[in-house]
Amino acid sequence: MNTRKRPNNLWLGRWGFILAATGSAVGLGNIWKFPYMTGEYGGGAFVLVYLLCIFAVGVPVMMIEIAFGRRGRGSPIDAIRRLARESGRSAGWSLLGWMAMICGFMILSFYVVVAGWSFSYLWKTLSGGLSGASVEDMAAIFEANNANPWALGAWSTLVTVITMLIVGLGVQKGIEKNVSWMMPGMVIMLGIMIGYAMFSGGFSEGVAFLFSFEIGKLTSEGLLAALGHAFFTLSLASGAILTYGSYLSDNSSIARTTLTVAFSDTVVALMAGLAIFPVIFANGLDPSAGPGLLFMSLPLAFQSMPFGTVFETIFFVMLSMAALTSSISMIEATVAWLNESKGISRAKAAWGSGILLWLISTLAMLSFNIGADWTLASKNVFDWLDFLTSRFLMPLGGLGMTLMAGFVLRNEILKSELALPTVGYVLWLYMVRYVSPLGIVLIFIDSLGLMDL
Ligand code: PFF
Ligand code: NA
Repeated sequence: MNTRKRPNNLWLGRWGFILAATGSAVGLGNIWKFPYMTGEYGGGAFVLVYLLCIFAVGVPVMMIEIAFGRRGRGSPIDAIRRLARESGRSAGWSLLGWMAMICGFMILSFYVVVAGWSFSYLWKTLSGGLSGASVEDMAAIFEANNANPWALGAWSTLVTVITMLIVGLGVQKGIEKNVSWMMPGMVIMLGIMIGYAMFSGGFSEGVAFLFSFEIGKLTSEGLLAALGHAFFTLSLASGAILTYGSYLSDNSSIARTTLTVAFSDTVVALMAGLAIFPVIFANGLDPSAGPGLLFMSLPLAFQSMPFGTVFETIFFVMLSMAALTSSISMIEATVAWLNESKGISRAKAAWGSGILLWLISTLAMLSFNIGADWTLASKNVFDWLDFLTSRFLMPLGGLGMTLMAGFVLRNEILKSELALPTVGYVLWLYMVRYVSPLGIVLIFIDSLGLMDL
């Protein structure tokens, strides 16, 4: 079997990996991005394709990543290099690890800005800054919140600092310890929100919007968006899951943990949709409001509802915690790499990468105020970070990993790592060799026409 390179750096609890990986997966992607994308791309049709992508691409790729991490016992770069060598292949495959690490870093640099919105809206709710606001007021509040670079920057800086503090404390004392209370807390709060939504009066309309499939509504753009979002929401091809997998004990089942994480993530996204759209419809608001949906429409809706402030508080606490359990996972690959390959202490690695992150996230933050017209092809820095990662880096990284797992590595390596019954293994191999890569390539080709850069 595998010689364990880091025996004292494994998850402590039986649930350590599941909690951390689910914490990574469940985040702004589920609660902020999924609802507004569903709104923009037309509801049920988008949801259906998204679910297909999760199943046909996301699940097989997540299994690959966990297996790569556990077998290679290291950061994405080192783990993939080790695996390639073990199969007598070029160490150049570790480029995939580089891509993933950089992708996670890029995502985090705009993610902290959105997480900062969540923190600032929690603050606004508690300090009464949203009460009595009309539709126009809400838009003005959202704009004012973005217009001041100092205030907006302070919130994203706060998120960066908390993230780095947790990650700097280490895998067990920092990450595992904090996800162990944040994740259960988050799920309870989400349950409360749904119960509330059920009585808001818009529930059936919300359900119909999410689940009525009109396939004709789906565009090529929507297809690519659904694929990119499947990667994003499961934290794939960004180093997070692979690195967390490198701390997984040899006797855990990779298939079972993957299904648990993917299922929980999907349930939370649908639950978030069920918590948000009924409130939107009950108040006659527009579901296709875009990235501001969560921050303009939702608080507005809360205002007009009984106990709105209480539930709004719960909502933004939940959103902030979901964001943190994801943000810590995005930088873990970088910190693990600096720590393991460069011998830098975790705390120093966290602060060092935190400073670089802060610089790039500041550029993303400025996209909402003084940098609004620093654009290229009518996309600002924030848009580019989102676009490049979701539409290119993640699908390409995922494609690379399926090819590596399906055709490059010696078959026994992943076979022993996955330890599946024969039928399961053959099915997985078929998905990884044909279904997932073809799916990615076809969606890419289909969308080539509309990538007017
Ligand atoms: N999966 C997270 C979400 O849905 O919010 C986002 C994410 C986390 C993406 C970690 C990438 C990553 F490495
Ligand atoms: Na997610």
